[in-house]
Amino acid sequence: MEELIIKGAKRLQGEVTVNGAKNAAVAIIPAAILSDDICIIENLPYIDDVISLCNTLNDMGVKCEFIDKHTLKVDSRNIKNFCATYESVKKIRASYYLLGALLGRYKKAEVAFPGGCDFGIRPIDQHIKGFSALGADVVVEHGMIKASAKKLVGTSIYLDVVSVGATINIMLAAVLAEGTTVIENAAKEPHIVDTANFLNSMGANIKGAGTDVIRIVGVKKLSGTNYMIIPDQIEAGTYMMAGAITRGDVTVKNLIPKHMESLSAKLSEMGVKVEEGDDFIRVIASDPLKGVNVKTLPYPGFPTDLQPQMSALLSTAEGTSIITESVWENRFQYIDELKRLGADIKVEGRVAIIKGLRKLTGAQVSATDLRAGAGLVLAALAAEGKTTITNLKYIDRGYEFIEKKLSALGADVKRVKK
Ligand code: EPZ
Repeated sequence: MEELIIKGAKRLQGEVTVNGAKNAAVAIIPAAILSDDICIIENLPYIDDVISLCNTLNDMGVKCEFIDKHTLKVDSRNIKNFCATYESVKKIRASYYLLGALLGRYKKAEVAFPGGCDFGIRPIDQHIKGFSALGADVVVEHGMIKASAKKLVGTSIYLDVVSVGATINIMLAAVLAEGTTVIENAAKEPHIVDTANFLNSMGANIKGAGTDVIRIVGVKKLSGTNYMIIPDQIEAGTYMMAGAITRGDVTVKNLIPKHMESLSAKLSEMGVKVEEGDDFIRVIASDPLKGVNVKTLPYPGFPTDLQPQMSALLSTAEGTSIITESVWENRFQYIDELKRLGADIKVEGRVAIIKGLRKLTGAQVSATDLRAGAGLVLAALAAEGKTTITNLKYIDRGYEFIEKKLSALGADVKRVKK
Protein backbone atom coordinates (compact mmCIF):
# COMPACT_ATOMS: atom_id res chain seq x y z
CA MET A 1 0.00 0.00 0.00
CA GLU A 2 1.34 3.40 -0.96
CA GLU A 3 0.29 6.89 0.00
CA LEU A 4 1.06 10.42 -1.12
CA ILE A 5 2.33 12.86 1.46
CA ILE A 6 1.89 16.45 0.39
CA LYS A 7 3.12 19.46 2.33
CA GLY A 8 1.05 22.21 0.80
CA ALA A 9 0.80 25.99 0.51
CA LYS A 10 3.71 26.16 -1.94
CA ARG A 11 3.41 28.23 -5.10
CA LEU A 12 3.95 26.02 -8.16
CA GLN A 13 6.11 27.37 -10.91
CA GLY A 14 7.59 26.01 -14.13
CA GLU A 15 6.68 23.69 -16.97
CA VAL A 16 4.94 20.35 -17.06
CA THR A 17 4.39 18.09 -20.07
CA VAL A 18 1.15 16.25 -20.62
CA ASN A 19 1.08 12.58 -21.63
CA GLY A 20 -1.14 10.91 -24.20
CA ALA A 21 -4.87 10.76 -23.52
CA LYS A 22 -6.03 7.91 -21.27
CA ASN A 23 -9.53 7.81 -22.69
CA ALA A 24 -8.20 7.72 -26.26
CA ALA A 25 -5.65 5.04 -25.33
CA VAL A 26 -8.21 2.72 -23.76
CA ALA A 27 -10.31 2.88 -26.94
CA ILE A 28 -7.47 2.72 -29.46
CA ILE A 29 -5.72 -0.31 -27.93
CA PRO A 30 -8.83 -2.53 -28.34
CA ALA A 31 -9.47 -0.91 -31.75
CA ALA A 32 -6.09 -2.25 -32.90
CA ILE A 33 -7.46 -5.82 -32.89
CA LEU A 34 -9.74 -4.83 -35.79
CA SER A 35 -6.65 -4.87 -37.98
CA ASP A 36 -5.28 -7.89 -39.82
CA ASP A 37 -1.78 -6.74 -39.11
CA ILE A 38 0.50 -5.12 -36.54
CA CYS A 39 -0.39 -1.71 -35.09
CA ILE A 40 2.09 0.57 -33.39
CA ILE A 41 0.54 3.08 -31.00
CA GLU A 42 2.71 5.97 -29.84
CA ASN A 43 2.37 8.56 -27.08
CA LEU A 44 0.50 6.21 -24.77
CA PRO A 45 0.33 7.23 -21.13
CA TYR A 46 2.13 4.71 -18.90
CA ILE A 47 -0.73 4.23 -16.46
CA ASP A 48 -2.48 1.32 -14.78
CA ASP A 49 -5.52 1.37 -17.10
CA VAL A 50 -3.29 0.89 -20.16
CA ILE A 51 -1.29 -1.88 -18.48
CA SER A 52 -4.46 -3.69 -17.31
CA LEU A 53 -5.92 -3.54 -20.81
CA CYS A 54 -2.72 -4.96 -22.32
CA ASN A 55 -2.77 -7.79 -19.76
CA THR A 56 -6.36 -8.58 -20.70
CA LEU A 57 -5.46 -8.68 -24.39
CA ASN A 58 -2.40 -10.82 -23.70
CA ASP A 59 -4.68 -13.31 -21.89
CA MET A 60 -6.69 -13.52 -25.11
CA GLY A 61 -3.62 -14.32 -27.18
CA VAL A 62 -3.15 -10.80 -28.55
CA LYS A 63 0.51 -9.88 -28.29
CA CYS A 64 0.85 -6.46 -26.65
CA GLU A 65 4.47 -5.51 -26.36
CA PHE A 66 5.88 -2.19 -25.12
CA ILE A 67 8.65 -1.02 -27.46
CA ASP A 68 9.32 1.69 -24.91
CA LYS A 69 7.27 3.04 -22.04
CA HIS A 70 4.99 5.04 -24.34
CA THR A 71 4.94 2.94 -27.51
CA LEU A 72 2.96 -0.26 -27.85
CA LYS A 73 2.96 -2.91 -30.55
CA VAL A 74 -0.31 -4.80 -30.85
CA ASP A 75 -0.35 -8.01 -32.84
CA SER A 76 -3.70 -9.80 -32.90
CA ARG A 77 -2.87 -12.25 -35.68
CA ASN A 78 -2.86 -15.20 -33.28
CA ILE A 79 -5.78 -14.30 -31.06
CA LYS A 80 -6.89 -17.44 -29.14
CA ASN A 81 -10.23 -16.54 -27.63
CA PHE A 82 -12.86 -13.85 -27.63
CA CYS A 83 -13.57 -13.78 -23.94
CA ALA A 84 -12.47 -11.28 -21.30
CA THR A 85 -13.24 -12.63 -17.84
CA TYR A 86 -14.20 -10.70 -14.71
CA GLU A 87 -10.79 -11.43 -13.16
CA SER A 88 -9.11 -9.81 -16.10
CA VAL A 89 -11.33 -6.72 -16.58
CA LYS A 90 -12.50 -5.89 -13.06
CA LYS A 91 -10.27 -2.83 -12.79
CA ILE A 92 -11.07 -1.14 -16.08
CA ARG A 93 -14.29 0.46 -17.15
CA ALA A 94 -13.12 0.71 -20.73
CA SER A 95 -13.06 -3.07 -21.09
CA TYR A 96 -16.43 -2.54 -22.80
CA TYR A 97 -14.53 -1.49 -25.92
CA LEU A 98 -13.41 -5.10 -26.29
CA LEU A 99 -17.05 -5.92 -27.07
CA GLY A 100 -17.26 -3.59 -30.06
CA ALA A 101 -13.81 -4.52 -31.36
CA LEU A 102 -14.23 -8.31 -31.00
CA LEU A 103 -17.73 -8.20 -32.42
CA GLY A 104 -16.60 -6.04 -35.33
CA ARG A 105 -13.70 -8.28 -36.26
CA TYR A 106 -14.71 -11.80 -35.20
CA LYS A 107 -18.50 -11.42 -34.88
CA LYS A 108 -18.39 -12.77 -31.35
CA ALA A 109 -17.42 -11.38 -27.98
CA GLU A 110 -17.81 -12.22 -24.31
CA VAL A 111 -16.82 -9.57 -21.83
CA ALA A 112 -17.51 -9.43 -18.11
CA PHE A 113 -19.44 -6.41 -16.86
CA PRO A 114 -16.91 -3.62 -16.60
CA GLY A 115 -15.32 -2.37 -13.38
CA GLY A 116 -13.55 0.98 -13.01
CA CYS A 117 -14.63 4.08 -11.12
CA ASP A 118 -17.92 3.90 -9.29
CA PHE A 119 -19.94 7.09 -9.23
CA GLY A 120 -23.47 5.89 -9.72
CA ILE A 121 -25.23 3.65 -12.15
CA ARG A 122 -23.17 3.20 -15.28
CA PRO A 123 -25.51 1.56 -17.79
CA ILE A 124 -24.41 0.27 -21.18
CA ASP A 125 -27.87 -0.02 -22.71
CA GLN A 126 -26.94 2.32 -25.56
CA HIS A 127 -23.94 0.16 -26.49
CA ILE A 128 -26.20 -2.90 -26.57
CA LYS A 129 -28.86 -1.04 -28.54
CA GLY A 130 -26.22 -0.17 -31.15
CA PHE A 131 -24.86 -3.73 -31.45
CA SER A 132 -28.39 -5.12 -31.75
CA ALA A 133 -29.29 -2.59 -34.44
CA LEU A 134 -26.26 -3.77 -36.42
CA GLY A 135 -27.65 -7.31 -36.27
CA ALA A 136 -25.95 -8.83 -33.22
CA ASP A 137 -27.61 -11.00 -30.59
CA VAL A 138 -26.68 -9.66 -27.21
CA VAL A 139 -27.42 -11.49 -23.96
CA VAL A 140 -26.32 -10.82 -20.44
CA GLU A 141 -25.83 -13.92 -18.29
CA HIS A 142 -23.63 -14.96 -15.38
CA GLY A 143 -22.12 -11.48 -15.25
CA MET A 144 -20.98 -11.69 -18.87
CA ILE A 145 -22.14 -9.65 -21.84
CA LYS A 146 -22.22 -12.02 -24.80
CA ALA A 147 -22.60 -10.68 -28.32
CA SER A 148 -22.57 -12.62 -31.56
CA ALA A 149 -23.68 -12.16 -35.15
CA LYS A 150 -23.62 -14.04 -38.44
CA LYS A 151 -22.92 -10.71 -40.06
CA LEU A 152 -23.24 -7.06 -39.13
CA VAL A 153 -25.14 -4.72 -41.42
CA GLY A 154 -24.95 -0.93 -41.29
CA THR A 155 -27.99 1.01 -40.13
CA SER A 156 -29.03 4.30 -38.55
CA ILE A 157 -28.70 4.46 -34.75
CA TYR A 158 -29.99 7.34 -32.64
CA LEU A 159 -28.43 7.48 -29.17
CA ASP A 160 -30.97 8.32 -26.44
CA VAL A 161 -28.17 9.83 -24.33
CA VAL A 162 -24.94 11.41 -25.49
CA SER A 163 -22.55 8.61 -24.57
CA VAL A 164 -18.80 8.56 -25.23
CA GLY A 165 -18.58 4.80 -24.73
CA ALA A 166 -21.57 3.92 -26.89
CA THR A 167 -20.41 6.22 -29.71
CA ILE A 168 -16.95 4.62 -29.81
CA ASN A 169 -18.23 1.08 -29.34
CA ILE A 170 -20.69 1.39 -32.22
CA MET A 171 -17.92 2.82 -34.42
CA LEU A 172 -15.74 -0.20 -33.55
CA ALA A 173 -18.49 -2.66 -34.38
CA ALA A 174 -19.50 -0.86 -37.59
CA VAL A 175 -16.17 -0.27 -39.38
CA LEU A 176 -16.13 -3.77 -40.88
CA ALA A 177 -19.93 -4.12 -41.22
CA GLU A 178 -21.68 -4.30 -44.57
CA GLY A 179 -23.00 -0.96 -45.79
CA THR A 180 -23.33 2.37 -44.00
CA THR A 181 -23.92 3.06 -40.32
CA VAL A 182 -25.04 6.48 -39.14
CA ILE A 183 -24.74 7.37 -35.44
CA GLU A 184 -26.98 10.27 -34.52
CA ASN A 185 -26.73 12.26 -31.28
CA ALA A 186 -23.14 11.05 -31.08
CA ALA A 187 -20.72 12.29 -28.42
CA LYS A 188 -18.06 14.73 -29.66
CA GLU A 189 -15.16 14.30 -27.21
CA PRO A 190 -11.60 14.65 -28.56
CA HIS A 191 -10.96 10.94 -27.92
CA ILE A 192 -13.85 10.07 -30.26
CA VAL A 193 -12.17 12.01 -33.04
CA ASP A 194 -8.85 10.39 -32.16
CA THR A 195 -10.29 6.86 -32.28
CA ALA A 196 -11.93 7.62 -35.65
CA ASN A 197 -8.62 9.00 -36.97
CA PHE A 198 -6.84 5.85 -35.78
CA LEU A 199 -9.39 3.63 -37.52
CA ASN A 200 -9.21 5.73 -40.69
CA SER A 201 -5.41 5.38 -40.63
CA MET A 202 -6.02 1.59 -40.86
CA GLY A 203 -8.29 2.08 -43.88
CA ALA A 204 -11.70 2.65 -42.27
CA ASN A 205 -14.14 5.12 -43.77
CA ILE A 206 -15.51 7.27 -40.93
CA LYS A 207 -16.71 10.82 -41.44
CA GLY A 208 -18.20 13.33 -39.03
CA ALA A 209 -16.40 12.31 -35.81
CA GLY A 210 -16.43 15.40 -33.59
CA THR A 211 -19.95 16.33 -34.74
CA ASP A 212 -23.19 14.78 -33.56
CA VAL A 213 -23.66 12.72 -36.73
CA ILE A 214 -21.02 10.12 -37.57
CA ARG A 215 -21.21 8.19 -40.84
CA ILE A 216 -19.29 4.93 -41.18
CA VAL A 217 -19.06 3.14 -44.51
CA GLY A 218 -18.04 -0.45 -43.83
CA VAL A 219 -14.83 -1.73 -45.43
CA LYS A 220 -13.70 -5.33 -46.05
CA LYS A 221 -10.52 -5.23 -43.99
CA LEU A 222 -8.26 -2.96 -42.01
CA SER A 223 -4.49 -2.88 -42.29
CA GLY A 224 -1.79 -2.22 -39.72
CA THR A 225 -0.86 1.33 -38.81
CA ASN A 226 1.50 3.53 -36.88
CA TYR A 227 -0.42 6.14 -34.91
CA MET A 228 0.30 8.78 -32.29
CA ILE A 229 -2.50 9.51 -29.84
CA ILE A 230 -3.55 13.00 -28.74
CA PRO A 231 -2.56 14.68 -25.47
CA ASP A 232 -4.73 14.14 -22.41
CA GLN A 233 -7.26 16.94 -22.00
CA ILE A 234 -8.02 15.98 -18.40
CA GLU A 235 -4.42 15.62 -17.27
CA ALA A 236 -3.70 19.00 -18.88
CA GLY A 237 -6.66 20.56 -17.08
CA THR A 238 -5.56 19.07 -13.77
CA TYR A 239 -2.12 20.72 -14.05
CA MET A 240 -3.63 24.03 -15.19
CA MET A 241 -5.70 23.98 -12.02
CA ALA A 242 -2.67 22.97 -9.94
CA GLY A 243 -1.15 26.25 -11.11
CA ALA A 244 -4.30 28.18 -10.26
CA ILE A 245 -4.94 26.66 -6.83
CA THR A 246 -1.39 27.37 -5.65
CA ARG A 247 -1.58 30.87 -7.13
CA GLY A 248 1.36 29.81 -9.22
CA ASP A 249 2.77 30.30 -12.70
CA VAL A 250 2.59 27.00 -14.57
CA THR A 251 3.04 26.31 -18.26
CA VAL A 252 1.34 23.11 -19.37
CA LYS A 253 3.04 21.81 -22.50
CA ASN A 254 1.97 19.36 -25.21
CA LEU A 255 -1.74 20.05 -25.06
CA ILE A 256 -4.31 21.11 -27.65
CA PRO A 257 -5.57 24.55 -26.50
CA LYS A 258 -8.89 24.07 -28.33
CA HIS A 259 -9.66 21.06 -26.08
CA MET A 260 -9.16 23.26 -23.03
CA GLU A 261 -11.53 26.09 -24.01
CA SER A 262 -14.27 25.41 -21.45
CA LEU A 263 -11.70 25.31 -18.63
CA SER A 264 -9.66 28.26 -19.91
CA ALA A 265 -12.87 30.34 -20.07
CA LYS A 266 -13.79 29.47 -16.46
CA LEU A 267 -10.29 30.16 -15.18
CA SER A 268 -10.30 33.56 -16.92
CA GLU A 269 -13.71 34.31 -15.40
CA MET A 270 -12.18 33.57 -11.99
CA GLY A 271 -9.42 36.08 -12.61
CA VAL A 272 -6.65 33.66 -13.58
CA LYS A 273 -4.41 34.85 -16.42
CA VAL A 274 -4.49 32.22 -19.18
CA GLU A 275 -2.01 32.58 -22.05
CA GLU A 276 -2.32 30.24 -25.01
CA GLY A 277 0.37 29.15 -27.46
CA ASP A 278 0.16 26.61 -30.28
CA ASP A 279 0.61 23.62 -28.00
CA PHE A 280 0.85 25.05 -24.49
CA ILE A 281 -1.10 27.10 -21.99
CA ARG A 282 0.46 29.22 -19.28
CA VAL A 283 -1.63 29.81 -16.18
CA ILE A 284 -0.71 32.66 -13.83
CA ALA A 285 -2.76 33.16 -10.70
CA SER A 286 -2.71 35.40 -7.68
CA ASP A 287 -5.13 36.24 -4.88
CA PRO A 288 -7.99 36.91 -4.87
CA LEU A 289 -9.75 34.59 -7.31
CA LYS A 290 -13.50 34.95 -7.87
CA GLY A 291 -15.98 32.11 -7.42
CA VAL A 292 -17.91 31.03 -10.54
CA ASN A 293 -20.74 28.68 -11.44
CA VAL A 294 -19.92 25.57 -13.45
CA LYS A 295 -22.15 23.00 -15.12
CA THR A 296 -20.62 19.80 -16.46
CA LEU A 297 -21.73 18.82 -19.96
CA PRO A 298 -20.62 16.56 -22.81
CA TYR A 299 -17.85 18.09 -24.97
CA PRO A 300 -17.44 20.96 -25.80
CA GLY A 301 -19.00 21.71 -22.40
CA PHE A 302 -17.09 21.66 -19.13
CA PRO A 303 -15.83 18.07 -18.60
CA THR A 304 -17.23 16.04 -15.72
CA ASP A 305 -13.72 14.59 -15.38
CA LEU A 306 -12.47 18.02 -14.24
CA GLN A 307 -15.34 18.58 -11.80
CA PRO A 308 -13.62 17.39 -8.58
CA GLN A 309 -10.50 19.41 -9.40
CA MET A 310 -12.75 22.46 -9.95
CA SER A 311 -14.45 21.94 -6.56
CA ALA A 312 -11.04 22.03 -4.92
CA LEU A 313 -10.07 25.20 -6.77
CA LEU A 314 -13.37 26.96 -6.06
CA SER A 315 -12.97 26.15 -2.36
CA THR A 316 -10.11 28.63 -2.39
CA ALA A 317 -11.90 31.36 -4.38
CA GLU A 318 -13.94 34.31 -3.06
CA GLY A 319 -17.70 34.03 -2.63
CA THR A 320 -20.14 31.24 -3.30
CA SER A 321 -19.80 28.97 -6.32
CA ILE A 322 -22.24 26.42 -7.63
CA ILE A 323 -21.24 23.27 -9.48
CA THR A 324 -23.96 21.33 -11.27
CA GLU A 325 -23.04 17.79 -12.32
CA SER A 326 -25.19 16.88 -15.28
CA VAL A 327 -23.35 13.84 -16.66
CA TRP A 328 -23.08 11.41 -13.71
CA GLU A 329 -25.75 10.98 -11.09
CA ASN A 330 -23.42 10.52 -8.13
CA ARG A 331 -20.09 12.22 -8.66
CA PHE A 332 -19.87 14.17 -5.42
CA GLN A 333 -18.87 11.25 -3.18
CA TYR A 334 -15.45 12.78 -2.64
CA ILE A 335 -16.86 15.97 -1.11
CA ASP A 336 -16.70 14.53 2.43
CA GLU A 337 -12.99 13.96 1.91
CA LEU A 338 -12.52 17.52 0.65
CA LYS A 339 -14.30 18.76 3.77
CA ARG A 340 -11.63 17.09 5.90
CA LEU A 341 -9.25 19.65 4.39
CA GLY A 342 -11.54 22.46 5.51
CA ALA A 343 -13.61 23.00 2.37
CA ASP A 344 -17.09 24.37 3.00
CA ILE A 345 -19.35 22.52 0.55
CA LYS A 346 -22.97 21.47 0.69
CA VAL A 347 -24.30 18.91 -1.76
CA GLU A 348 -27.94 18.82 -2.79
CA GLY A 349 -28.51 16.10 -5.37
CA ARG A 350 -26.52 17.01 -8.44
CA VAL A 351 -25.56 20.46 -7.13
CA ALA A 352 -22.63 21.40 -4.90
CA ILE A 353 -22.66 24.79 -3.20
CA ILE A 354 -19.16 25.86 -2.37
CA LYS A 355 -18.36 28.69 0.02
CA GLY A 356 -14.90 29.83 -0.83
CA LEU A 357 -12.08 31.62 0.94
CA ARG A 358 -11.86 29.13 3.79
CA LYS A 359 -8.29 28.26 4.55
CA LEU A 360 -7.60 24.64 3.62
CA THR A 361 -5.54 22.64 6.12
CA GLY A 362 -3.79 19.30 5.66
CA ALA A 363 -5.45 16.09 6.84
CA GLN A 364 -5.60 12.36 6.15
CA VAL A 365 -7.87 11.65 3.15
CA SER A 366 -8.69 8.82 0.80
CA ALA A 367 -9.25 8.93 -2.97
CA THR A 368 -12.72 7.64 -3.80
CA ASP A 369 -12.17 7.51 -7.56
CA LEU A 370 -9.66 8.67 -10.16
CA ARG A 371 -10.63 12.32 -10.62
CA ALA A 372 -11.72 12.63 -7.00
CA GLY A 373 -8.16 11.65 -6.18
CA ALA A 374 -6.87 14.39 -8.47
CA GLY A 375 -9.16 16.90 -6.75
CA LEU A 376 -7.75 15.90 -3.37
CA VAL A 377 -4.19 16.26 -4.64
CA LEU A 378 -4.98 19.81 -5.78
CA ALA A 379 -6.62 20.70 -2.47
CA ALA A 380 -3.62 19.26 -0.62
CA LEU A 381 -1.26 21.42 -2.69
CA ALA A 382 -3.14 24.50 -1.48
CA ALA A 383 -3.61 23.34 2.12
CA GLU A 384 -1.37 24.42 4.95
CA GLY A 385 0.51 21.55 6.56
CA LYS A 386 0.65 17.89 5.72
CA THR A 387 -1.97 15.87 3.81
CA THR A 388 -1.80 12.12 3.44
CA ILE A 389 -3.74 10.65 0.53
CA THR A 390 -4.46 6.93 0.48
CA ASN A 391 -6.11 4.68 -2.12
CA LEU A 392 -3.63 5.71 -4.81
CA LYS A 393 -4.75 2.84 -7.04
CA TYR A 394 -7.37 5.21 -8.40
CA ILE A 395 -4.98 8.07 -9.12
CA ASP A 396 -2.51 5.66 -10.76
CA ARG A 397 -5.22 4.55 -13.18
CA GLY A 398 -4.99 7.88 -14.97
CA TYR A 399 -1.96 9.98 -14.03
CA GLU A 400 1.59 9.02 -14.99
CA PHE A 401 4.15 9.89 -12.29
CA ILE A 402 1.96 12.58 -10.76
CA GLU A 403 4.31 13.10 -7.81
CA LYS A 404 7.32 13.54 -10.10
CA LYS A 405 5.55 16.08 -12.28
CA LEU A 406 4.32 18.07 -9.29
CA SER A 407 7.72 17.93 -7.56
CA ALA A 408 9.34 19.35 -10.70
CA LEU A 409 6.95 22.32 -10.35
CA GLY A 410 8.16 22.89 -6.79
CA ALA A 411 5.55 20.94 -4.82
CA ASP A 412 6.56 18.96 -1.76
CA VAL A 413 5.07 15.56 -2.68
CA LYS A 414 6.35 12.15 -1.74
CA ARG A 415 5.05 8.66 -2.44
CA VAL A 416 5.73 6.39 0.49
CA LYS A 417 5.02 2.74 1.27
CA LYS A 418 2.76 2.24 4.29
C1 EPZ B 1 -16.39 8.10 -20.52
O1 EPZ B 1 -17.14 7.16 -19.76
C2 EPZ B 1 -15.09 8.30 -19.80
N1 EPZ B 1 -14.40 7.02 -19.74
C3 EPZ B 1 -15.33 8.87 -18.41
O2 EPZ B 1 -14.05 9.19 -17.88
C4 EPZ B 1 -16.12 10.16 -18.52
O3 EPZ B 1 -16.49 10.60 -17.23
C5 EPZ B 1 -17.38 9.96 -19.35
O4 EPZ B 1 -17.06 9.35 -20.63
C6 EPZ B 1 -18.13 11.26 -19.63
O5 EPZ B 1 -17.29 12.15 -20.32
C7 EPZ B 1 -13.75 6.57 -20.78
O6 EPZ B 1 -13.65 7.20 -21.83
C8 EPZ B 1 -13.08 5.26 -20.64
P1 EPZ B 1 -20.74 7.93 -21.13
P2 EPZ B 1 -18.42 6.48 -20.38
O7 EPZ B 1 -21.19 6.69 -21.78
O8 EPZ B 1 -18.17 6.24 -21.82
C9 EPZ B 1 -25.26 7.56 -19.49
C10 EPZ B 1 -12.37 9.29 -16.23
O9 EPZ B 1 -12.35 9.79 -15.10
N2 EPZ B 1 -25.29 6.31 -20.29
O10 EPZ B 1 -20.41 9.12 -21.97
O11 EPZ B 1 -18.73 5.29 -19.53
C11 EPZ B 1 -24.37 7.42 -18.28
O12 EPZ B 1 -25.06 6.88 -17.19
C12 EPZ B 1 -13.59 8.54 -16.70
O13 EPZ B 1 -11.44 9.32 -17.03
C13 EPZ B 1 -26.48 5.62 -20.44
O14 EPZ B 1 -27.53 6.01 -19.90
O15 EPZ B 1 -19.49 7.60 -20.18
C14 EPZ B 1 -23.94 8.86 -18.06
O16 EPZ B 1 -24.92 9.52 -17.30
C15 EPZ B 1 -14.55 8.23 -15.64
N3 EPZ B 1 -26.48 4.49 -21.20
C16 EPZ B 1 -23.89 9.47 -19.46
O17 EPZ B 1 -24.67 8.57 -20.26
C17 EPZ B 1 -25.37 4.02 -21.81
O18 EPZ B 1 -25.44 2.99 -22.49
C18 EPZ B 1 -22.51 9.60 -20.08
O19 EPZ B 1 -21.84 8.35 -20.04
C19 EPZ B 1 -24.17 4.73 -21.66
C20 EPZ B 1 -24.15 5.88 -20.89
